[in-house]
Amino acid sequence: MKKLAGKTAIITGGNSGIGLATAHEFIAQGAKVIITGRNQSAINAALTELGENAYGIVFDSGDMQQIKKLADQVKAFTPNIDIIFINAGVGKFNSVEGMEEAMFDEIMNINFKGAYFTLQQLLPLVNDGGSIIFNTSINAHIGMAGASVYAASKAALLSLIKNLSAELLPRRIRVNAVSPGPVVTPLHSTTKLGISDEQLQQMGEGIVKQVPVGRFGTSEEIAKVVSFFASDDSTFVLGAELIADGGMYTL
Ligand SMILES: NC(=O)c1ccc[n+]([C@@H]2O[C@H](COP(=O)([O-])OP(=O)(O)OC[C@H]3O[C@@H](n4cnc5c(N)ncnc54)[C@H](OP(=O)(O)O)[C@@H]3O)[C@@H](O)[C@H]2O)c1
Repeated sequence: MKKLAGKTAIITGGNSGIGLATAHEFIAQGAKVIITGRNQSAINAALTELGENAYGIVFDSGDMQQIKKLADQVKAFTPNIDIIFINAGVGKFNSVEGMEEAMFDEIMNINFKGAYFTLQQLLPLVNDGGSIIFNTSINAHIGMAGASVYAASKAALLSLIKNLSAELLPRRIRVNAVSPGPVVTPLHSTTKLGISDEQLQQMGEGIVKQVPVGRFGTSEEIAKVVSFFASDDSTFVLGAELIADGGMYTL
């Protein structure tokens, strides 16, 4: 029996990177999956890869008006869901001296406020016994120049896993987090990080030196962790974080 047979999942930011790999993993484990992203053509390309058990919704998790409409959009596909993977996020970096309010708000709106209210709006659709997983980051644990706001947005999610697990006990809904170290995804690009080719290469080389296993992780390695939290293999696990970082923080 496949581990997620009969379950329905929604993955925010499911058209790329870790979210897309998790959609593949969930479907391989028997689930039906709704993916969200901001760009219709990126969603369409992902749906072509994922096949008939995937559906797509264009949705910006930094926009409260769209968040308030999400549950109705989901209901067009399914009345209930079992799994929410809150994965959509941006990685933007600047020093405390250089940080501008617009970048601060963008990071916090998408990574924290958007995550919180997406969960709030979808909760009425979640079946009792459901599983919610946040994608955080080891940046929530380490000190890295330029990462203060990104790290704070992810640390805030770690606070949610405990408080919301406590609050949702009557419905047996578990809230957990995966905290990846560096993972090869389209996030590591000059456009998404707002840096030059040279800076990107230097950054990559610098990061690998800090990872005991000597490489970036893959999206598929993170997807396996998410799948564990999503499945009934982890029914006694709540308010927990699994750090998947090749030892960068854990060793
Ligand atoms: N890669 C790493 O090294 C790493 C490490 C630790 C944590 N993470 C976390 O992992 C998550 C996924 O990142 P990734 O590495 O897989 O990068 P990615 O390939 O860039 O994927 C990010 C996804 O989030 C979506 N997204 C971003 N802003 C959104 C918004 N406002 N509304 C809806 N969707 C939005 C993107 O959709 P669009 O196509 O519309 O932009 C995309 O589907 C992020 O939360 C990131 O912080 C990544």
